[in-house]
Amino acid sequence: MKHRKTKIVSTGSYIPETIISNLDLEKMVDTSDEWISTRTGIKKRHIAHEKEAASDLAYQASIKALKKAGISAKELDMIIVTTITPDMLFPATACVLQHMLGAKKIPAFDVEAACSGFIYGVSIASQFISNGTYETILVVASETLSKITDWEDRNTCVIFADGAGAGVLRPSEDESGIISIYLGADGEGADIVGVPAGGSRMPASIKTVEERQHYMKMKGNELFKRAVKVMVEAADKAIKEAGLTYKDIDFFIPHQANIRIIQAVAKRMSIPMDKVYVNLQECGNMSAASIAVALDQAIEEGKVKKGDKILFSCFGGGLTWGSMLIKW
Ligand code: UT7
Repeated sequence: MKHRKTKIVSTGSYIPETIISNLDLEKMVDTSDEWISTRTGIKKRHIAHEKEAASDLAYQASIKALKKAGISAKELDMIIVTTITPDMLFPATACVLQHMLGAKKIPAFDVEAACSGFIYGVSIASQFISNGTYETILVVASETLSKITDWEDRNTCVIFADGAGAGVLRPSEDESGIISIYLGADGEGADIVGVPAGGSRMPASIKTVEERQHYMKMKGNELFKRAVKVMVEAADKAIKEAGLTYKDIDFFIPHQANIRIIQAVAKRMSIPMDKVYVNLQECGNMSAASIAVALDQAIEEGKVKKGDKILFSCFGGGLTWGSMLIKW
């Protein structure tokens, strides 16, 4: 069987226009700009329009990535959307996106790995390219977390946000591409963050709506403690598999959950903060989309140079985690 190196050949992102600042939140819940800024690093977040769904954001990010790759949607062999806020329970948002893009009748499916979604999606896509099954795969992380956020719950509404990031994957023709990927999960922590109702465990009813069970619930502090440990452990695996050390890393793009998590993770890896990409002050925590948007922004800002070794590490609901090392 063939084994080909896979590469993210282009990226695109889309952030909705509407902004909710910390000052806006002060008027909605018992919080302050000072608390949110110092405890999370977030100053503002972008929120989708009432009529905008995950597929709409995904579409905007996808057309930018396709344009940068210089290809049409007709050339795609597969579409993977990673999201915890799909347009609906089913059909998959990826199928809706396939139609919007005018792609061929290629396989299209969703991957649900919360904040680790983009790394999970890229990992799955890279298998199909690596083994020679497909040539061109679109992976899109799209989140409309504002739709499952309880805007009366200060534990969650101050951190989450909306956005989408896309990547086109193809076989690499040079030294650049994915060097290593590592994925993990622990369902023992499934109750730490999630939306209780609306699935088969607690189907939608008037009672579940009245009890606000369709909104995200999160034990933030428990997540925080696990996040730092697991993000470092995941990154260690990708680094070790590549036979490298943290000193070899040119750029680190972590999941954007909280600036204190990012700083603690970078410190344990001895990666200086000037090599770490942070966008949560502007974008908040966009779950699966965070890393995908951050990669696109870092490229657009000229922060990523050809040949750079870029490390990614993520952590989220599930619990899930993962890491990836690429040569740009
Ligand atoms: O993306 C992956 C999934 N999510 C995460 O990884 C999130 C990880 N967790 C976090 O980022 C943090 O835990 C939070 C930002 C959610 C919370 O920060 P924290 O430092 O862990 O705060 P805490 O929950 O321990 O609460 C500390 C205090 C409490 O008051 P008391 O009991 O000490 O009087 C809270 O009631 O801060 C209070 N508090 C707030 N105060 C003002 C909690 N949320 C707020 C708020 N504004 N928004």
